[in-house]
Amino acid sequence: DKGNHRHFMEKEIHEQPEVISHALGHYVNFIENRAIPVSGAIDFAKVPSLAISACGTAYLAGLIGKYWFERYARLPVEIDVASEFRYREIPLSPQSAALFISQSGETADTLASLRYCKEHGLKIGAVVNTRESTIARESDAVFPILAGPEIGVASTKAFTCQLAVLASLAIAAGRARGTLGEEEEQAMVRSLSEMPRLMSRVLNSIQPKIEFLARELSKCRDVLYLGRGTSFPLAMEGALKLKEISYIHAEGYAAGELKHGPIALIDENMPVIVIAPHDRFFDKTVSNMQEVAARGGRIILITDEKGAAATTLDTMHTIVLPNVDEIVAPVIFSLPVQLLAYHTAVFMGTDVDQPRNLAKSVTVE
Ligand code: F6R
Repeated sequence: DKGNHRHFMEKEIHEQPEVISHALGHYVNFIENRAIPVSGAIDFAKVPSLAISACGTAYLAGLIGKYWFERYARLPVEIDVASEFRYREIPLSPQSAALFISQSGETADTLASLRYCKEHGLKIGAVVNTRESTIARESDAVFPILAGPEIGVASTKAFTCQLAVLASLAIAAGRARGTLGEEEEQAMVRSLSEMPRLMSRVLNSIQPKIEFLARELSKCRDVLYLGRGTSFPLAMEGALKLKEISYIHAEGYAAGELKHGPIALIDENMPVIVIAPHDRFFDKTVSNMQEVAARGGRIILITDEKGAAATTLDTMHTIVLPNVDEIVAPVIFSLPVQLLAYHTAVFMGTDVDQPRNLAKSVTVE
């Protein structure tokens, strides 16, 4: 049932504040502002490293998770798309643990990567939406993302719930490993607890701007997405969403890689969407954006209030979000990214919930 939404995708985008709040309730203690320690098969305090594998959007959530585990828990993470991971013959320590992220829990390549790690003696954790799935069954520890059924083929609420679970696990790992202090933990958990309210605020405020920009994007043949730090995987996610439902060619690039090739593509016909919260990389990303502007590129900057106040360029549209802490930025910045893809597809008249050639669950290799 789509309720009063035109598509399941739209419904699922708007459900996110509620489902993420539900999911977080299982991973953090909001009274003490602590991440709930992970007990059972995976001992984050002892593992020397972590392997992560997944496909598509779930892989991009894992990539953001890598930034968090490495930064907050000082845990080295080996990550790859499952279709490469399973064949790479990666040297893996049997003392390590591996996380497999999958909405459906049935993705063939992700399952094959899981079995590969199991054969090499690693403890297996599953970050899944479907608890009665093959990936969940074959894992030593299951971390449900509790997003509820996702019907739209393009993943939205599963992605942000995966991020919420990975953020909580990274904080728990940081505490277990002594790399995150109690006060840092409390500040981060407090930020997570504010996330659902901020998400509602963003969803209620950016619609007119998004529709205006989506109309522009629907006339384009190619779009470039740029980001740095955790905004880089999000740039790739933005490009993936746009490709799969609007069929517009899009690419997500690390902002710093622009000058190593893709800058040659820039002209007035290719909009460049820059994801840049006012974080420690902001100035660097803005200077990459100026390189685009200097070549006549049209820029759409997705930033926060501080970022908007710090930049002015004539050739630019901005989507301004509230100021948020680094740990919640990827979730909050997912919202305009999802909505831009959704409304662009609506303008183009594509089958948003069932894009051509795609299946919700990919059980072939
Ligand atoms: C993109 C999308 C796909 C899936 C991928 C993995 O919107 O939905 O890229 O993320 O096929 O699927 P799961 O998470 O079921 O393993």
